[in-house]
Amino acid sequence: MRFLLIYASIDGQTKKIAERIMATIQAGKHDCQMVSIEHAPQKMEAVDCLVIGSRIRFGHHDKAVAAFVQAHLDWLNQHPSAFYSVSLVARKKEKSTPATNSYCRKFFSKTHWQPKNAAVFAGKLDYSLYNFWQKRIIRFIMWMTDGPTDFSSKIEYTDWEKVDEFANKLIN
Ligand SMILES: Cc1cc2nc3c(=O)[nH]c(=O)nc-3n(C[C@H](O)[C@H](O)[C@H](O)COP(=O)(O)O)c2cc1C
Repeated sequence: MRFLLIYASIDGQTKKIAERIMATIQAGKHDCQMVSIEHAPQKMEAVDCLVIGSRIRFGHHDKAVAAFVQAHLDWLNQHPSAFYSVSLVARKKEKSTPATNSYCRKFFSKTHWQPKNAAVFAGKLDYSLYNFWQKRIIRFIMWMTDGPTDFSSKIEYTDWEKVDEFANKLIN
């Protein structure tokens, strides 16, 4: 199978997850290309399965990802496709599945995309990457959700086994 993996990432975690998924797909002897949303092709030529991953910022997936999904909705709903969402709220067990994660639920209901596989992964917290206001907003969110509020915190919450399970489902 020929896979195309499109990701939207700012701080790198959604991209890092894409790299891990790609490694699993390639280890299964499948062809896999990976591109950021800015470089996503407009035509799905020579693609059997499309995998899209997006980070969350301020409650929303990447706008360009939503636009891409709308533009390719027919293709997506007629071919094998998969989606993963990356956020900090997903570190909470009760918000870690497509059915229980409100960002994911809203995204599918808005775009009408029904991917064969979907997953919600916890991202990373790294205050050193955020600007003055972002630092304070994220600290407020962390405080509200019992997370670390110390500006020196750097935590990767991603469950890599869960990522591997998702990737293995794509090739089996
Ligand atoms: C400015 C900003 C806003 C964010 N907003 C949210 C949010 O609304 N909900 C959430 O769960 N995580 C939020 N996050 C956390 C990111 O989703 C998390 O850090 C993720 O790993 C980012 O993916 P990326 O590293 O691929 O950019 C936010 C992070 C930043 C920097």
